[in-house]
Amino acid sequence: MDNYEPKLPEKSKFLVTGGAGFIGSNLIERILGAGHEAVALDNFSTGREENIREFIGNKNFLLMEGDIQNIEDCRKACKNVDYVLHQAALGSVPRSIEKPGDTNDSNITGTLNMLIAARDSNVKRFVYASSSSVYGDSQQLPKREDKTGRPLSPYAISKVTGELYGRNFFDLFGLPTIGLRYFNVFGKKQSCYSAYAAVIPKFIGKLLKGERPVINGDGEQSRDFTYVENVVDANLAACAAEREAFGEVFNIGNGERISINGLYSKIAELLHIDLDPIYGPERCGDVKHSNADISKAKSILKYWPAYNFNEGLKLCISWYINNL
Ligand SMILES: NC(=O)c1ccc[n+]([C@@H]2O[C@H](COP(=O)([O-])OP(=O)(O)OC[C@H]3O[C@@H](n4cnc5c(N)ncnc54)[C@H](O)[C@@H]3O)[C@@H](O)[C@H]2O)c1
Repeated sequence: MDNYEPKLPEKSKFLVTGGAGFIGSNLIERILGAGHEAVALDNFSTGREENIREFIGNKNFLLMEGDIQNIEDCRKACKNVDYVLHQAALGSVPRSIEKPGDTNDSNITGTLNMLIAARDSNVKRFVYASSSSVYGDSQQLPKREDKTGRPLSPYAISKVTGELYGRNFFDLFGLPTIGLRYFNVFGKKQSCYSAYAAVIPKFIGKLLKGERPVINGDGEQSRDFTYVENVVDANLAACAAEREAFGEVFNIGNGERISINGLYSKIAELLHIDLDPIYGPERCGDVKHSNADISKAKSILKYWPAYNFNEGLKLCISWYINNL
């Protein structure tokens, strides 16, 4: 379980948009731990102060409360930055179906603003979070980067659009963009009590309260769950990647899939809790199966999932037990 240590200049400055969120705050922890500087740009729409509390007072950390929908905030945040890790977005398929305009504003307008600001600041890399949702209605398994389907939600459309802009900013302006299609990320600091919480923290949160979680549909849908430290590795690997990666997108997953029923059994077993789930209606906009082919990321980014699913799940559960 060695973390990937890419060759980056000794003291680099990273801008992490969405730095108070789940993935952003895990990125900042590793960046500061390696002796680099980190700036977090966040509007705290879904991010939380408690995620970044441990960094406050660190001389290498700067919090900028601001909004990527405002280009001036993006320009200020990009000043003298070497690497941009663009994570800020409104996540969740159901939220995007309820509020497509909000998703469009943060995820599409916000990403375009960040690309413009990063281009004008001549950053070394612009690494951005895309999503497995771009595979939409494609039935192919495992998912390969060149075979996407029709997007099934406004969230998926926002991520497809971000990728199009990412490629275009490399082609037109030479901005070294690299898109990472994350597959169902989980780990410490992921929100578990929000209405739009992801399935792993939702199951853990409910079970720890002695309540029965709801499984949408028959539970036979499957996902490629990816431990957050692997996603952090992928971002750092992308910062060190060479020209053949620019303008490209890469699947960042574990490379295995598990059904939601299988996931539920594992979590209940690790928590030593014997409660049956409640089965509810299927969610619209959800894909049935998801599984990443990670060969492109392995060969070009030198990414590999250092933590497998079981190792990640154990670490994640013990974090929730100690921190909830
Ligand atoms: N968690 C996953 O499984 C997953 C899967 C695929 C893709 N992604 C993508 O990864 C990125 C990070 O996701 P996460 O799970 O950490 O979500 P998160 O909600 O925990 O973090 C997102 C952060 O962005 C901030 N933000 C949102 N809109 C903003 C705006 N307009 N201006 C400034 N800050 C803003 C939020 O306050 C939050 O801190 C997102 O782009 C998401 O779409 C996540």
